[in-house]
Amino acid sequence: SAVLAPNMSSCQLPQHFPSGQEPYDCCAPPADYEPRLFRPVGGGSPLRVRRPAHAADDAYAAKLARAYTLMKALPPDDPRSFSQQANIHCAYCNNVYRQMNSTQPFQVHNTWLFFPFHRWYIYFHERILARLLGDDLDFALPFWNYDHPDGASIPWLFSISSSAAYPVLSAGALRDSTHEFPATVALDFGVDTDLRPRSVQLQENDNTMYRAIVRDARDRPAFFGWPYRRGDSPMEGFGFGTVEWQPHNTIHSWVGNKSAIGWKHMGALFASGLDPVFYSHHAEIDRFWELWKALPDHEDFDEEEYKNAEFLFYNEDGELVRVRAGDASNTTLLGYVYEEVETPWMGAVP
Ligand code: C2O
Repeated sequence: SAVLAPNMSSCQLPQHFPSGQEPYDCCAPPADYEPRLFRPVGGGSPLRVRRPAHAADDAYAAKLARAYTLMKALPPDDPRSFSQQANIHCAYCNNVYRQMNSTQPFQVHNTWLFFPFHRWYIYFHERILARLLGDDLDFALPFWNYDHPDGASIPWLFSISSSAAYPVLSAGALRDSTHEFPATVALDFGVDTDLRPRSVQLQENDNTMYRAIVRDARDRPAFFGWPYRRGDSPMEGFGFGTVEWQPHNTIHSWVGNKSAIGWKHMGALFASGLDPVFYSHHAEIDRFWELWKALPDHEDFDEEEYKNAEFLFYNEDGELVRVRAGDASNTTLLGYVYEEVETPWMGAVP
């Protein structure tokens, strides 16, 4: 059977915090009602178009900065506040909740829940930002287009080195300062990647993308990650899909400051949502799901245990709702699409 919505009253202090990091409570604020099931129906308002972050203009950057300023100004116990938004990641990644009707922790990484969980997560995040902007119907998160040479650096608006005007979008010392704009991102980040010339790294980035979405992702478990059903214990170090491993995990480590406790922010699961670039990183990962599905004969899992798996999120009204993995399949129903951009790596057979 499927993993049901976590039992919020089971919430406890996070596990697996790095040494030196004082554990803190990252449970969502409790609700005194049963969360209703929210199902996307589409229609109504125009589709939000998520565009590449590197191509953003000043007006967009200023708008995004305004939205995050407002989010950071909400009281810390408001589930829509920036710290609570970041806590969502800690909660679902550091074994804070138990699965409903099971004693096992609720863990979304290294499983087939990786894509749907993060899609729902940034879906609500985007809507909250849009609400803070006064119900801006056009507002959409940008995606960090690192699979294209033009987007292969931390997007300028998120980088303290290039966008001093918007410090609210940066993470200050909790990034690797040598990786701020315009350093070339290493999608296969490892011990020697910092030494590579840009042209070599761009070639490796194409190869990494091709492996993750085409060559090594021919079946569903390979791409999405392994099945994870009610009562299953979290997988550590295996079970992840191709994209989750690279470039997803590698981007996290490449951005974070490896000298900070736990490789914060981005290199630490519990803290990564504290870097605003996290949400653009995950918009790009979310877009990869669409690219993979556009390939011939590629479909989402059809198993009930996948489709009925549930998560809990607070929506833009501050209401706790229950959502299903299977309802994340269609971005149009969720009210957004990605701007189409070139994917040169598709033809770059390594
Ligand atoms: Cu929940 Cu980028 O990971």
